Amino acid sequence: QESPRIYTKEEVRSHKSPQTGIWVTLGSDVFDVTEFVDLHPGGPSKLMLAAGGPLEPFWALYAVHSQPHVRELLAQYKIGELDPEDNVAPTLETSDPYAEDPVRHPALKVNSQRPFNAEPPPELLTENYITPNSIFFTRNHLPVPNLDPETYRLHIVGAPGGHSLSLSLDDLRKFPKHEVTVTLQCAGNRRSEMTQVKEVKGLEWRTGAISTARWAGARLCDVLAQAGHQLCETEAHVCFEGLDSDPTGTAYGASIPLARALDPEAEVLLAYEMNGQPLPRDHGFPVRVVVPGVVGARHVKWLGRVSVETEESHSHWQRRDYKGFSPSVDWDTVDFDSAPSIQELPVQSAITEPQDGQTIESGEVTVKGYAWSGGGRAVIRVDVSLDGGLTWQAAELDGEEQRPRKAWAWRLWQLQVPVPTGQKELNIVCKAVDDSYNVQPDTVAPIWNLRGVLSNAWHRVHVRVIP
Ligand code: HEM
Ligand code: MTE
Repeated sequence: QESPRIYTKEEVRSHKSPQTGIWVTLGSDVFDVTEFVDLHPGGPSKLMLAAGGPLEPFWALYAVHSQPHVRELLAQYKIGELDPEDNVAPTLETSDPYAEDPVRHPALKVNSQRPFNAEPPPELLTENYITPNSIFFTRNHLPVPNLDPETYRLHIVGAPGGHSLSLSLDDLRKFPKHEVTVTLQCAGNRRSEMTQVKEVKGLEWRTGAISTARWAGARLCDVLAQAGHQLCETEAHVCFEGLDSDPTGTAYGASIPLARALDPEAEVLLAYEMNGQPLPRDHGFPVRVVVPGVVGARHVKWLGRVSVETEESHSHWQRRDYKGFSPSVDWDTVDFDSAPSIQELPVQSAITEPQDGQTIESGEVTVKGYAWSGGGRAVIRVDVSLDGGLTWQAAELDGEEQRPRKAWAWRLWQLQVPVPTGQKELNIVCKAVDDSYNVQPDTVAPIWNLRGVLSNAWHRVHVRVIP
């Protein structure tokens, strides 16, 4: 018996294109699956997400692979094993504030490593109505704090100078447990399309700064009732402070109007579970705020303090960011105090399949995507066009039925249609309508703004058709 060929992880990593060959690993085995890619029952683009690295994090998302016949199939492509010596853990750089950040799923498309900002690729984003925790988009402004659940305390201040509470995780669990499915979207989702009109300041999010989870925790209204808030509902705000902070000690913060916080129907949560698990560190362990129907920026993670105040949070992210302006406002003329903070988001939709620039076969095309609106407004229709918006067909809406005024989660949608004969290319467009009959603007230029937020124009995808 010949001893197996030995490869380093670096060598495996350098094999991730048709030119170099496509390698993957499972356990310590190395496989050359170049010939299999086009035969993969789940499609070549999904397999390619794992090219040059381990299969485990991807196969964890798809149980179909834990069958003997899949292992046998893969075994045919084995070319060797990983070098057992190649296990040097990266040295911990103690002066690096990000050194203790958690390990992330390799499928995530990273927009910035420090702080960590990443989105799931479109191939995976709409595979599941509930986004798996491991690929839920992540938006961090600062290093991830490393918090001990045993000593964790949440400080609740009911009113200026008033009654206050200090709650342990166990104390929080004693409140009635409330569960709700909520889609979180960053104000900067689809910013990269705004950048194409004119430069903006911000991370280049594509269509994936949005994800959906089932959250569980205590309702904020129940906790505030115990703290005995005393301010008038119409003029007060609930301010949240995170336990993540910059080198000057400034914490992430944001606020929402008190009226929303006190409304039991608004279902604002102090969440400690995400899809049945304790919150992952990237998503706010041990406790975060979930504000259904409201922009992601207010869902404060690693929550340390909640207080009822007469004014909005003084945080940079409440007052000097996450606001919308006219396209003619630039960084010399902008007056942040002149615009309200973004709370409820406008109606949104995007295509996740096929992707821009892709080549498709003639015959039939399946168009897939997501649609969502803020403020609990339900998506009532998604229109899809194959000819740039001249003619439209209604897509089929999947996912949980939506409750009137409490439609907190997205609808996934799809449309399977014949490719019109003789077409060499398609200009696929989608647009959603919510139950207030709000629609998306047709182009992005008229809604361009210097910060690149609220990018919700019709989503357009150009594909070529193989005759
Ligand atoms: C299905 C093999 C990588 C996603 C399958 C099936 C096989 C297979 C044999 C059919 C299983 C059955 O129905 O009994 C492989 C091999 C891989 C690989 C050998 C690596 C070399 C991946 C990756 C992903 C993925 C990286 C996702 C990122 C899927 C999906 C299906 C599937 C979604 C289900 C397709 C359907 O039922 O419509 N794979 N797979 N696979 N695979 Fe993979
Ligand atoms: N909370 C804290 N403490 N620190 C942050 O950087 N980012 C906010 C919000 N809460 C942030 C935070 C923003 S802008 C968004 S869009 C969401 O968290 C993202 O939540 P996620 O990373 O769980 O997807």
